[in-house]
Amino acid sequence: MIVSRPLSTEHISVRDLSEQDVPLMLDYWYRSPPGFVERMGVDLSKLPTEAEMARGTLQNITDNCLLSTSKLHALAITCDGRTVGVHTLFPLIEGDHGIFHAHVWNPTFRNRGLGLRSYPKACQVFFERFDLKRILFKTPVQNIGAIRVKEKLGIPCIGEELIDFGIIRAGTRAKVFELLSGESSIKSSAQSSQSPFKSSQRIDLQNILH
Ligand SMILES: CC(C)(COP(=O)(O)OP(=O)(O)OC[C@H]1O[C@@H](n2cnc3c(N)ncnc32)[C@H](O)[C@@H]1OP(=O)(O)O)[C@@H](O)C(=O)NCCC(=O)NCCS
Repeated sequence: MIVSRPLSTEHISVRDLSEQDVPLMLDYWYRSPPGFVERMGVDLSKLPTEAEMARGTLQNITDNCLLSTSKLHALAITCDGRTVGVHTLFPLIEGDHGIFHAHVWNPTFRNRGLGLRSYPKACQVFFERFDLKRILFKTPVQNIGAIRVKEKLGIPCIGEELIDFGIIRAGTRAKVFELLSGESSIKSSAQSSQSPFKSSQRIDLQNILH
């Protein structure tokens, strides 16, 4: 078994998705190993064609460049300057809430502590950029890694629901997590002894970011 070493966390960052990231995104969605995309809870019949996804994403990036401040809802995750994945916010109601997504495109960067650093950084950008009251995470119950990241960050789980939005398979059961703005803090609900946070602690986003 190959054991990957943890990543050096100070080199993990987020920035607006750019044109040169798009081929990596397309490889992830259209050339991942068979069954990978479906296991995440995606309905392949809802996935746009590769050309449509490329065109739509490039259009969003180009349109955003015309704005005085960025309104892009896709942030590339970088490690040592190399793009390894993306955080997106969709659906989004500016001034209220958005649903957060995470995809580490490069499999060699998964399960090495990247998400624990990139989620808080991306949330901070999205809170400020879209003046959000809360960020929701609706994670299919079978996505153990994605659920574990929220638990380790101490983001409260507020229930479960059947989801059906975007490219998600209708009726997918998901755990719902909610991160509130306001105090810019994360209320820890993590019970695991491996959690860096105690359950009663209020965690300032800044503590996680630095
Ligand atoms: C889910 C995802 C975003 C998590 O990011 P990540 O950088 O791999 O997560 P981290 O390395 O920071 O892991 C955080 C915790 O989750 C655990 N974890 C991560 N991936 C896991 C997996 N596949 N199975 C079990 N636990 C996992 C880690 O072990 C760690 O917990 P621990 O410290 O107690 O061991 C990433 O793995 C990914 O993009 N996966 C494929 C796409 C996907 O599933 N996206 C989510 C769709 S809802």
